[in-house]
Amino acid sequence: MARFRFSLLASLLSLAFIGVAAAKPQNYVHYNATFSYTYCSPSSIRIPNNIRAVQKIVQEALKSHLKVKAFGSHHSTTDIICPPTGSIAIDSAHLNWIKINKKAKTVKVGAGTLEKNVIDALEAQGLSFPQTTTYGGITMGGATGTGAHGSSFKHASTFSEMLVGMTIVTGTGEILTLKGKDLDDFRVHLGFLGVVVEVEFTVVPLYKVLVTAYPTDDAILYTPAFLQMAEATDSLVVTWIPRIKKLAIVNRTYVPVGTPGNGAAFGGGGAVFSVEQRVQESQIFDYFEVTRNQTAMCAVEEGYFYSIFSNVTSQGFPPAFIDNMGNFANPVVGFPRNVLTTTCQAPKCAFLAPTPILTKELAFAIPARNLQLLLAIFDEIYKKYPSCFPLSGVLFRFAPPSRGLVAAEQGEPTIHFELLIHLVESNHDIASIQLEFFQALSKALYANKKLKARPHWGKNGHENSHRIPH
Ligand SMILES: Cc1cc2nc3c(=O)[nH]c(=O)nc-3n(C[C@H](O)[C@H](O)[C@H](O)COP(=O)(O)OP(=O)(O)OC[C@H]3O[C@@H](n4cnc5c(N)ncnc54)[C@H](O)[C@@H]3O)c2cc1C
Ligand SMILES: *[C@@H]1O[C@H](CO)[C@@H](O)[C@H](O)[C@H]1NC(C)=O
Ligand SMILES: *[C@@H]1O[C@H](CO)[C@@H](O)[C@H](O)[C@H]1NC(C)=O
Ligand SMILES: *[C@@H]1O[C@H](CO)[C@@H](O)[C@H](O)[C@H]1NC(C)=O
Ligand SMILES: *[C@@H]1O[C@H](CO)[C@@H](O)[C@H](O)[C@H]1NC(C)=O
Repeated sequence: MARFRFSLLASLLSLAFIGVAAAKPQNYVHYNATFSYTYCSPSSIRIPNNIRAVQKIVQEALKSHLKVKAFGSHHSTTDIICPPTGSIAIDSAHLNWIKINKKAKTVKVGAGTLEKNVIDALEAQGLSFPQTTTYGGITMGGATGTGAHGSSFKHASTFSEMLVGMTIVTGTGEILTLKGKDLDDFRVHLGFLGVVVEVEFTVVPLYKVLVTAYPTDDAILYTPAFLQMAEATDSLVVTWIPRIKKLAIVNRTYVPVGTPGNGAAFGGGGAVFSVEQRVQESQIFDYFEVTRNQTAMCAVEEGYFYSIFSNVTSQGFPPAFIDNMGNFANPVVGFPRNVLTTTCQAPKCAFLAPTPILTKELAFAIPARNLQLLLAIFDEIYKKYPSCFPLSGVLFRFAPPSRGLVAAEQGEPTIHFELLIHLVESNHDIASIQLEFFQALSKALYANKKLKARPHWGKNGHENSHRIPH
């Protein structure tokens, strides 16, 4: 136990430096994916604050035969955030303007503008995006880069689909605005099109969200009623715990903006009660792995499950939904800003807290019509390697067909499904208890051509640090 206590102390000491690390120096030269070991080493990193400045950087790079790649909040875990070594990287952070056209119901934003800032600005004008991602700290350029998604069959579920215009600086330094049909090839742009400087989206009148969360047997998953339920709901998020054969359904129904209530999603699985708890968690998980204690992992999984819909907050998970007083609430009504995106703030957000829990994620999209095939593959592997997913369960989200050429939802109603496993941090020679299941499923997803599974562009990277909600 001494080792655990020592590293707990070390972790607490490291908290003292958070303030320092948070201030990004202007001349930093390397950057990491926030949640993985992906490490980028360009020759320099520029932080332009207008389109003209971006043009200058590109023209300069052209002269010296250097490549250029822009990045956003580097929350993608894969190396799509990196330019080739030695190239110039553009940090989009200062391309952060917001121009709302209330009459046309559109918003034009700089590519580096944070999603949550756009959501706030829209709300102030009585407008909203029809869906959001779980975490609002990503940039709009980055969100369209990977096709980041929320969950809805009924409404546009990605910013890439809401896109009506995109202004870029091309490889030769020209400014180009794409609209209409041309956009479809680059709705999900992966940073390959040029430097995206401005993106324009259609928005909708502001609404509120009535959230009702409840458990149910997983038998419904194997019937057409499952997809029908998702089709009939504005936004449905489903967490599956195969071991206990249960689903936690989160029904997010849009209601008129005048509906009383100002509740919030308390970060879901990403939230923790305290920093100390957060610091201890990674060591506790390591301890479970070292002692091969699947029972303990499964108990955490169950704690997570109950936190989604109830005030049974065992295993350290706060309730997923709270009222305006901060107390557990279900059902709860609130604005998209608080309910669709997470409001947990550092350091009580697990994924923004200082010490990492090492995770590995599997985030795939399949055509909705292939759900039963996916379940058959999943169940066969699960039978061989019964597993628990204490950090996420198995998450299902939904999306209508996308027009984007490389969108995960290209051409068909789509199901996104994902799960996280924990990896041992302190003993690299010890494999996660869940690893056999994880690897077998990963392989099967790639190998089964009928399934047409497609990986999330910004996920499935190297192992992640920090527990992340999706
Ligand atoms: C806590 C957390 C929760 C998440 N939740 C969700 C979720 O609910 N749904 C989901 O789909 N994903 C989710 N993700 C993944 C995340 O939304 C995507 O990885 C997103 O692309 C990250 O945006 P970013 O601003 O960090 O962009 P980056 O990761 O920095 O970049 C993404 C891509 O966009 C390109 N790019 C960025 N800016 C520009 C620009 N100005 N010009 C040209 N190219 C550019 C980059 O080159 C790269 O290819 C989550 C991630 C985290 C960490
Ligand atoms: C990136 O990660 C590496 C390896 O974990 C670490 O050594 C380095 O300090 C990090 N760099 C930055 C800029 O965060
Ligand atoms: C979702 O909630 C709405 C509003 O309470 C309700 O009418 C609808 O039946 C619910 N649907 C599901 C699938 O839970
Ligand atoms: C596994 O963890 C549980 C707590 O969930 C504990 O009661 C049990 O004794 C542990 N078993 C072993 C073998 O360590
Ligand atoms: C949890 O909620 C139930 C009703 O849903 C209530 O009866 C109970 O007192 C609550 N418990 C706590 C600890 O808040």
